[in-house]
Amino acid sequence: MAASRNPFKPSAGATPPHLVGRDDQIAAVADGLDEGPGSPGRLTIFTGARGVGKTTLLNAVDDVALEHGWLFVDETATTGLMGRLDEHVSHMLEERRPRPKRRLTGINLPASFGGVSTELTPELSAGLRRKLNALLDDLERHDSGLLLTIDEVHVSLPDMREIAALAQHMVREQRQFALVMAGLPSAVSGLLSDGVLTFLRRADKHVLGDVSIDEVHDALVATFEENGRAMTPEASELAAEATFGYPFLIQLVGYHVWRATDGGVADLDAVDAGISAARRRLGSLVHETALADLSDLDRTFLVAMSVDDGPSQMADLRRRMGEVSPQHANTYRRRLMAAGMIEQVSHGKVAFALPYLRDFLREHGAAYGLGPDEL
Ligand SMILES: Nc1ncnc2c1ncn2[C@@H]1O[C@H](COP(=O)(O)OP(=O)(O)OP(=O)(O)O)[C@@H](O)[C@H]1O
Ligand SMILES: [Mg+2]
Repeated sequence: MAASRNPFKPSAGATPPHLVGRDDQIAAVADGLDEGPGSPGRLTIFTGARGVGKTTLLNAVDDVALEHGWLFVDETATTGLMGRLDEHVSHMLEERRPRPKRRLTGINLPASFGGVSTELTPELSAGLRRKLNALLDDLERHDSGLLLTIDEVHVSLPDMREIAALAQHMVREQRQFALVMAGLPSAVSGLLSDGVLTFLRRADKHVLGDVSIDEVHDALVATFEENGRAMTPEASELAAEATFGYPFLIQLVGYHVWRATDGGVADLDAVDAGISAARRRLGSLVHETALADLSDLDRTFLVAMSVDDGPSQMADLRRRMGEVSPQHANTYRRRLMAAGMIEQVSHGKVAFALPYLRDFLREHGAAYGLGPDEL
């Protein structure tokens, strides 16, 4: 084993060497596949802040499907979703059919032939629902089924309506079918409150949060050891704490500590260097992207929060923002909670939901509305 190969995976959706703290969610979906049609795990939605591991968990759920002898399709809720789904299902169906010797599909004959479209494999031109039923007929004969995972769901994509209708149909027909979705909190709450997509409200919703520092510690130590290195006890404890249990940081801290390790054992120096590098990368990979999605006023609210060393009082924030009304301040608070940026810690008090966001805003606040000097 090459000791120099870095085993950590600090990039979006990359499968980590150890998936920390997601056993319950995986078991819920696995039970759903075991239990049969109508089981809650067969209609599941994961939500949580950026970098909490939604995409990674969907990938893990795809593996669960394979372990159950099921097929899966993994997709993202972007324009053309239904068309792509149609292609996947057609392809799977075709793969499972004995191949005719010669097949012409969808040839447009010239007008002299009557100008009609000749379709030699009718199932390919039929609706997606029909294809899906045909695929499931075949899969169910082999004790199998189909899992559809859809990442980054949001209500504004019209295709989501069709997906909801399709899933409803599959459940009603008691097919061996499961739908597992993931999205940011604001997107998921929009989806679940939409009047047209009421079926999706039945989804088993899991809010993904930070994982336990003890489990992070064990995963870091195991990853080092499995890859031919070690960590001193002080180093592994400090590194685990520096992740705050936030999944993206587990990979970033692990990756940069590994890089900073000279020789086979990570010590406190390597961890110090690794944590600084991880924090810088977190800023450009997560904080910048998350802030870019917000309105100027929402960012100003966050910069106003960054003045405090701990949770912020709403009354202080209103004052710092130039005496905005309680109603406006509440609107910003609600939007930022839905975006997974802040959380309410007690009545009238809010805190950052992403680690090191405060530090990032203190350093870069001027670029995001008012700088601390003006507050
Ligand atoms: N349970 C976990 N244990 C260890 N590392 C994890 C875990 N979940 C995710 N990661 C790591 O965290 C990083 C971010 O994960 P991922 O891209 O899945 O987050 P996300 O919630 O989909 O983020 P976004 O909202 O930006 O799409 C990746 O590097 C991934 O390997
Ligand atoms: Mg993702």
